[in-house]
Amino acid sequence: MTQLSVRHLLGIKNLTETDIHAILDTATQFKEVINRPIKKVPSLRDVTIANVFFENSTRTRLSFELAEKRLSADVVNFSASGSSVKKGETLLDTVNNILAMKVDMVVMRHSSPGAPHYLAERIGANIINAGDGTHEHPTQALLDAFSIREKIGDLAGKKVAIIGDILHSRVALSNIFCLKKLGAEVRVCGPTTLIPKYIDALGVQVSHNVRETLEWCDVANVLRIQLERLQVKYFPSLREYSLYFGISKAMLDSLNKPIVLMHPGPINRGVELTSDAADSAHSIILNQVENGVATRMAVLYLLAQQ
Ligand code: CP
Repeated sequence: MTQLSVRHLLGIKNLTETDIHAILDTATQFKEVINRPIKKVPSLRDVTIANVFFENSTRTRLSFELAEKRLSADVVNFSASGSSVKKGETLLDTVNNILAMKVDMVVMRHSSPGAPHYLAERIGANIINAGDGTHEHPTQALLDAFSIREKIGDLAGKKVAIIGDILHSRVALSNIFCLKKLGAEVRVCGPTTLIPKYIDALGVQVSHNVRETLEWCDVANVLRIQLERLQVKYFPSLREYSLYFGISKAMLDSLNKPIVLMHPGPINRGVELTSDAADSAHSIILNQVENGVATRMAVLYLLAQQ
């Protein structure tokens, strides 16, 4: 049986290339399962999983819950809003109270970078990071890699551009780690103010020219401007951002070559992508969402064997 080198999924940084291939190969098998008329397997029967979300989510949260249910796990859901966190209860107390109800695995999203690492050092359950602030979002990077591999084959040697707000993006960092481990060439593109100063130390190229980047890449993974994390003005206006860094269907069509368009969601339509680009034949955005369930099933299944 395939064994991961880790007990928790805290980030892609700690995974080996073998771990990533094991997750993607297991996800391929689960994708076949969830496309059968009977979509459920008994793999995690008697395992109880808590989805603990301190930050908003649509895709990640529903996708984890469906993945858990497809594996026959027992599932409890916790949102900070409407909970005793509002009365001042700490993160550790909250999670320890949930674990006292005999929970085996915790899937957590939190606005503080490092929150899942903090918990992993203090509690016995397996922890899965569902996004920690601006740090990492490992299952998003895994489902992105799965979706690229499904669409255009092995990632080794493929050219992948990550375009947009790199500075505030946990998706960007996890994708860079994942794509580099799988042998892809990676370029980030965006305004100077939204690209971290020392990002080239991660072995990625840097560009500020979207047209030239689209001509270079096989895959464009476009990120949203994270308005909720912008404390100062990084560009004059959304209109100006869209003018210089927005991507339209006409622009993609004019490349006269195949290009795969991705976005982790939620999309700011009319800002980083026009609607006609997001909904075009270049786009695999909804395939990414579909693949999120199989990829998360693989992560849960493999961690439960540890
Ligand atoms: N891609 C992603 O993390 O989306 P949600 O914030 O809706 O979970």
